[in-house]
Amino acid sequence: MNMKRIAAEYAVQYIEDGMKVGLGTGSTAYWAIQKIGERVKEGLSIQAVATSKASERQAMELGIPIIPFHEIDGLDLTIDGADEVDLDLHLIKGGGGALLREKIVAHHSKRLIIVADERKLVHTLGQFPLPVEVVPFAVEWTLNSLQRLGCRTQLRTDEEQLFITDNGNYIVDCNFATIAAPLKLHNEILNIPGVVDNGLFIGRADLAVIAHYDGIVEVLK
Ligand code: A5P
Repeated sequence: MNMKRIAAEYAVQYIEDGMKVGLGTGSTAYWAIQKIGERVKEGLSIQAVATSKASERQAMELGIPIIPFHEIDGLDLTIDGADEVDLDLHLIKGGGGALLREKIVAHHSKRLIIVADERKLVHTLGQFPLPVEVVPFAVEWTLNSLQRLGCRTQLRTDEEQLFITDNGNYIVDCNFATIAAPLKLHNEILNIPGVVDNGLFIGRADLAVIAHYDGIVEVLK
């Protein structure tokens, strides 16, 4: 059973005719976009924006109407994946490198629904290295500042080249092992010049749809 697909398709039930919808990024959000595409073919009328070039391409191929940001001033609902979800619905995102666009879109959505399989559910965030988007200028200094917050850092690569985000920046994966105070860490990271944003999403998710391997779909609020 594909648990990512089960969670994603469950969440698509929350989309209603006429809604403005944010499309997430990653291998779980992929299934939500596929399902939305099916529903659009069956007559669902929505307008959408995407959180990455990859998701935008997928949506356009499926005939999901993508509208320019300047034509709307917000969204009803966004469905997106996560790398870790804790019981307060705080998240680590950005494993796919789209955290900045994801956070912008989430911020302008009335509701953010997270879709994930049960492996993403954790008691304490931090096992998954926290992605931080940084500008290329003086990146070594930015890395030093991040390390002073208590993590090991790794500049993300893709086939031996530095990974470049859709915004032309780098991603630093910060291994804290455990993040005891997510909001404090989030603010400390944002305080470092050169950091554009980080993958901690604190108090942003409204629902998390978690698909368990025993077939049960759990909805956390
Ligand atoms: C993309 O940048 C991420 O925030 C994804 O939403 C997150 O990494 C989850 O990805 P998967 O659904 O592929 O695990």
